[in-house]
Amino acid sequence: MAIKFGRPLERARPSPFEREAASEHRLDLAIRPRRNRRAEWVRRMVREHVLTTDDLIWPLFIVEGSNVRAPVASMPDVERLSIDQAVRAAVRAAELTIPCIALFPYTEPDKRDDFGSEALNQENLVCQAVRAIKKEVPEIGILCDVALDPYTSHGHDGLVRDGVILNDETVAVLVRQALVQAEAGCDIIAPSDMMDGRVGAIRAALDGAGFGDVQIMAYAAKYASAFYGPFRDAVGSAATLIGDKRTYQMDPSNSDEALREVELDIAEGADMVMVKPGMPYLDILHRVKETFGMPTYAYQVSGEYAMIMAAAGNGWLDGHKAMTESLIAFKRAGADGVLTYFAIRIAEKLKASGL
Ligand code: PBG
Repeated sequence: MAIKFGRPLERARPSPFEREAASEHRLDLAIRPRRNRRAEWVRRMVREHVLTTDDLIWPLFIVEGSNVRAPVASMPDVERLSIDQAVRAAVRAAELTIPCIALFPYTEPDKRDDFGSEALNQENLVCQAVRAIKKEVPEIGILCDVALDPYTSHGHDGLVRDGVILNDETVAVLVRQALVQAEAGCDIIAPSDMMDGRVGAIRAALDGAGFGDVQIMAYAAKYASAFYGPFRDAVGSAATLIGDKRTYQMDPSNSDEALREVELDIAEGADMVMVKPGMPYLDILHRVKETFGMPTYAYQVSGEYAMIMAAAGNGWLDGHKAMTESLIAFKRAGADGVLTYFAIRIAEKLKASGL
């Protein structure tokens, strides 16, 4: 008999809740998926995908100077780093067993021109950063973007004539940019320009110059996306970009075309392929992995990072949970790894949880 405030309660009939639970209302279900979710130990047992630090590639922005950590307004907690600071970041990444970092330069405005000449300077920021990091942290992989947009006065990834982005002329420059980066010690060349034929041309040039071991991760299916906005702030191309990139980056409406792009890059010699952006394109990621079975990466781009950080900053989302959920989604969709600005944060978290 239930006692409430010391007074025995007479109960004529069970509460509605008790009636729900009564056995005559029990569904005759042999199969109850919730059994496997009933406690953390069993959720761990049946878990299909796990995220580890091996899945992470950490993009870093490099800036001139020393001891500089310059915030990027649209990317909370992301800073442009001078080379000495980038070396420290690489040390930390290696300690956390992040296998690879990706380097992006902020080029000073006076070094930008119509042809992106600074991309071919062996002493440019990226090359210096590669050498400095390789010297101090030889065990970490370094990926370098191949495209001209951080270096051009018009902000495009290629050469422009009469408002048209030239394909074959651009590829000739990209090949030279790739060689300069390989010479500096870059491990993975990542063409992000979406010109036709660039992977094959770069592969041939690398092999011809004795860089047969340098890998190519092709930005194979890269969409003309609004989600790159904060990145363009970080590298300074938001201010320079004239027009948009829709004559070379893909139309967000297309999916079969992504498979053709990926197929071409594999045929031309890509060792790894990438889909970009990430979360809005998980369907593409899944199709690419299913179709080709290649090492396949997702780029969780700057705008995706900014959205989660902005919502978390306003108290609208639990930032840690949203970050973790977004990253496991890439694994579930088929990614072998993720380029993400959360890399260091999630690696710290994984380490703290003993993974
Ligand atoms: C340059 C490049 C871009 C990104 C990576 N490499 C921007 C663009 O294509 O305009 C975007 C990365 C991000 O948004 O985080 N070609």
